[in-house]
Amino acid sequence: MTADVLWTHARLWTAAGPLISDGVVAAKDGRIVFAGPASDAPAAARVIDCGGRLVTPGLVDCHTHIVHAGNRADEWRMRLEGATYEEVARAGGGIVSTVKNVRAASEDELVRQSLPRLDALIGEGVTTIEIKSGYGLDAENETKMLRAARRLGRERPVTVTTTHLGAHAMPPGQTDKDAYIADVVERQLPAAHAEGLADAVDAFTEGIAFSVEQTRRVFAKAKSLGLPVKIHAEQLSNLGGAAMAASEFGALSADHIEYLDEAGVVALAKAGTVAVLLPGAFYFIKETKKPPVDLLRKARVPIAVSTDCNPGSSPLTSALLALNMACTFFALTPEEALLGVTKNAAKALGRDTDIGTIEAGKSCDLAIWNAEAPAELAYRIGFNPLHSRVWRGNV
Ligand code: NIG
Ligand code: FE
Repeated sequence: MTADVLWTHARLWTAAGPLISDGVVAAKDGRIVFAGPASDAPAAARVIDCGGRLVTPGLVDCHTHIVHAGNRADEWRMRLEGATYEEVARAGGGIVSTVKNVRAASEDELVRQSLPRLDALIGEGVTTIEIKSGYGLDAENETKMLRAARRLGRERPVTVTTTHLGAHAMPPGQTDKDAYIADVVERQLPAAHAEGLADAVDAFTEGIAFSVEQTRRVFAKAKSLGLPVKIHAEQLSNLGGAAMAASEFGALSADHIEYLDEAGVVALAKAGTVAVLLPGAFYFIKETKKPPVDLLRKARVPIAVSTDCNPGSSPLTSALLALNMACTFFALTPEEALLGVTKNAAKALGRDTDIGTIEAGKSCDLAIWNAEAPAELAYRIGFNPLHSRVWRGNV
């Protein structure tokens, strides 16, 4: 076997086995053809010496709202003075204020405002990012957001997966939740699907958003269109959305889940649903209830970690800081956290056969770090040790 490129002298953390101290990755046509000890490596015309640096899979940020317009710094100031996230939302602020900005912005403007956030993530070794809609809340503006998300993937060397989140909040001026859910089902999802704009469907199941039954209607439509589902659930209370999404729809992931109970954990385990922890939101809304990490571990639920980058509850554009927070707040081990932005994040996107680990057959997406041990990536706060990044075999 011959390869196009070899990365040699790597401290290789593949996310699929133990650290290899003198490792080699070989790629051909953008795909990994070998990953293992130097002694077994194939030959190649081009050799890149990693100089003993740590090499990990390219990072996967599996839950973001990076496409949005404006910011909510004023609302944050209100919260600093004592208002809660829920109170701000009920007073007409929150998600709805971003909806007004997104509706007023053109697709070009959405791309322009979102690129710096994407660049920050790419600069930390992110090679795949999930981007949700959810600030348009009608067929026209939800598809505009998803088109902007797809364009980001053409403007930068990064894989973008898109998720339709029409069931995120009630649009300004509307109060009939069932009627709005009917719009999501009958107009928004078919419109996005017809243009191939949605890779998955999400919903926010919460008192300030939609009920389990309303979410079920959205997911039934997703299923009929052949789209996998994900859910924002048990973030502020325990409504049972995560268990419903897992047991009835085999959801790819259940996200936030601070209030998830044991029955919910069991449902995730049975369905193979990934638990996505979002420590940036936990931190930024000063949540005190922690997700049930011990129960998730015992039930062997795969745990992912993501930025949840959004203007309201998590204005975070650092996957590395999310790692640090997942360890400090939720007591993940540094290795668990790193699996959460590689292997398990890929599973949360249904892409685990293609990305997330350094194994033969997968896309050659790598992050090369000025670091020796995987734990260092989660350990530092506000320091970026990325040396270089490889996406589909290209540095
Ligand atoms: O993931 N939980 C709901 N949605 C977002 C927040 C969006 C916003 O506040 O703008 C989240 O936390
Ligand atoms: Fe979110």
